[in-house]
Amino acid sequence: MKILAIETSCDDTGISVLDVKKPASHQGGFGSKDVFTILANNTNSQIMIHTPYGGVFPALAKREHQKNLPIVFKKTLEQAKIKIEKIDLITVTYGPGLEPALWTGIVFARELSEKYNIPIMPVNHMEGHIFSIFPKNKKTFTIDSSKNIFPMLSLLVSGGHTELILIRDWMKYKKIGQTRDDAAGEAFDKVARMMGLPYPGGPVISSLAQKAREEKLRITNYELLIKLPRPMIYTKDYDFSFSGLKTAVLYLIRDLKEKDPNILDKIKIKQSVAKEFEDAVVETLTHKTIKAIKQYKIKTLIVGGGVSANKYLQEIITKDIKKLRKSDFLNVKVHFPVLTLTGDNAIMIGVAGYFQYKKKKTIKNINSIKAKGNLSL
Ligand code: KG4
Ligand code: ZN
Repeated sequence: MKILAIETSCDDTGISVLDVKKPASHQGGFGSKDVFTILANNTNSQIMIHTPYGGVFPALAKREHQKNLPIVFKKTLEQAKIKIEKIDLITVTYGPGLEPALWTGIVFARELSEKYNIPIMPVNHMEGHIFSIFPKNKKTFTIDSSKNIFPMLSLLVSGGHTELILIRDWMKYKKIGQTRDDAAGEAFDKVARMMGLPYPGGPVISSLAQKAREEKLRITNYELLIKLPRPMIYTKDYDFSFSGLKTAVLYLIRDLKEKDPNILDKIKIKQSVAKEFEDAVVETLTHKTIKAIKQYKIKTLIVGGGVSANKYLQEIITKDIKKLRKSDFLNVKVHFPVLTLTGDNAIMIGVAGYFQYKKKKTIKNINSIKAKGNLSL
């Protein structure tokens, strides 16, 4: 079965072609081994265009997707050496995300579906991030849905979302916690902006923080000042909050500037603030994730979304999961996506769409597929 996957929820125009052996239509349901081959995959990032705005500008994102979609589509089919007539299923992200951006992908998918009579499966972007852990750095990967990997927990951390999802079986999701205000990635982006660093903030802050850790920075004069809260870390629920942390950084920068107006020009100060901020985010995310693992006796942890690229988050989660083996006799397997699939991409939309297709029929009335900016799992 050949799948054409389309992703345009934010600032990446992603198109990929996947080939799945043992097609769902013949196998019927779950409990089989599906072998995926990535025939082609392209992600056209708009980062350079949005950088001057310090974040994604929806109208610009829409314009860029409209411009890029036909180009990326043509290139991807050529690379996959396949004609559109040979595609069996189109999968397309319909939410959550920026509605003007989502619509571009949906309209593009609908037109192809109509013209070439190909069924469409609309896909939840967050479900895509969950499925993003399966492809590895090879062209081919297998998903064995007969394996008992449940209960599973997914920590989804991106620019728009921060959620803990309990998964008791394939495609069965229960949100047990989420951010009450800003998403973790959004906090990285906003803090970077306050510090005069470019968008997206995650990778820049992370590398500054890494330097601070490597050099074990001690800024004696200011050290006492560079402390940030860990919001909601000890609350009983599984919710998060990053807006207060962001404000705390604002005040911290203000206080530091009172001492020296040019203080942020000092690279070591920047590194220290970045480290303290990253510590605060990682500690809160990890604390609640580990708590949920214990409560729900989780067997598998999946971390997905743009922030899952964060090396320190990966390191601390992996360390704490190891500790659980000794302290609670819980043998939890943890999975992160390969680096190229932590951010938005169409492969994950193809894989999640295929599993949706296993579960239910494709949409008959393609005009009923609409963008849903606030779509939830
Ligand atoms: O999943 P994604 O590519 O797009 C959304 O669906 O939002 O996530 C983008 C977010 C941005 O906020 C970016 O700053 C953050 O992921 N990010 C990181 C890292 N790389 C990307 N955050 C922390 N550390 C990183 N290494
Ligand atoms: Zn995303």
